[in-house]
Amino acid sequence: MNLVVLLLTLITMSFVKITSTKKSRLNNIDFANLGFGEIFSDHMLICDFKKGEWGIPEIVPFEPMSMMPSAKIFHYGQSIFEGMKAYKDDKLNTWLFRPEENFNRLNKSAVRLAIPKIPKEIFFDGMTELLKIDNEWIPKTTGCSLYIRPIIFAIGDGFHASPSDEYRFLIATAPSGLYYTKKVKVLIEEKFSRAANGGVGYAKAGGNYAGQFYPTQLAINKGYDQIIWTDDNSHEYIEEAGSMNIFIRIDDKLITAPTSDRILDGVTRKSIIKLAENEGIPVEIRKVKVNQLIDAFNKGSLKEIFGAGTAAVISPISEFGFRKKDYTLPKIKDSYSEKLKKMMTDIQFNRTKDPFGWLYKVC
Ligand code: COI
Repeated sequence: MNLVVLLLTLITMSFVKITSTKKSRLNNIDFANLGFGEIFSDHMLICDFKKGEWGIPEIVPFEPMSMMPSAKIFHYGQSIFEGMKAYKDDKLNTWLFRPEENFNRLNKSAVRLAIPKIPKEIFFDGMTELLKIDNEWIPKTTGCSLYIRPIIFAIGDGFHASPSDEYRFLIATAPSGLYYTKKVKVLIEEKFSRAANGGVGYAKAGGNYAGQFYPTQLAINKGYDQIIWTDDNSHEYIEEAGSMNIFIRIDDKLITAPTSDRILDGVTRKSIIKLAENEGIPVEIRKVKVNQLIDAFNKGSLKEIFGAGTAAVISPISEFGFRKKDYTLPKIKDSYSEKLKKMMTDIQFNRTKDPFGWLYKVC
């Protein structure tokens, strides 16, 4: 540790350098009417990788930043991100949910996109200090939280199609409400693909999302909200929905596709599996064919489909479309999605015991 870092550590009890905003925007925010990721907190964390090493993380006001037009992020999309949330409990304590999972996945994505891994202390200390300085931005409104977006992108410049030699790690936050405000109507896609074996589907690469925009817009034009992707090879198997992993309930069994090169290893997905198993719900992690889904619908054994993700939490699907036909799911009383959503959010907001040690206290 050099002298500057040591001095900063002693002054702030952390090695994060802080420059506070001169004018907070907090009083202009309508916390009773929050959308998703539309307004941004006063500060952001930045930390640059230059000359082969990560520098000192800094908290600065959230404002535009200047970059070279030749920066590789613009040309080759070398960029990865995570989605996390900070929750306030009744006593106004601040919590994160399984942040270690996001840290590990960010570095897994980094390896795949030839980006240098971010050290643990920069990720955790940087995020902790940011959540402390912008603590008042964490909503206290029911169902709302502070969405956290850690991102690493190539800031080094050059038109050569090779990895950048400079990167920026940045964390921005946004007080947010629901990602989906109503039940979701999905289209099962058979032509376009989200990911392929050997590709980057398992990573949270920005380009994975950009590649979905056009087919999703075509689906929206037909009256759907979102696509359920099928495998790129046969288009027979249900994969994920891009913004969330997919769970299917047939009779009393809860089924989800195994993670693979093509499917994101969702933190919410693995938490649901654990919660459901703990409740005695039979869980099957296996491939499901679209025609098995239709068969189950026709027999009346298809009870529910829901999506799971950090932003989406657990979002029920009301209807799915396949080959120009729409299938409306039945309304049921003992819904797994409602039950599991309550169990999950009760843990996240520290309203109940946390039997798995998932919560991480920030302050
Ligand atoms: C998340 O759930 O946090 C994601 O990153 C998905 C994104 C489409 C909002």
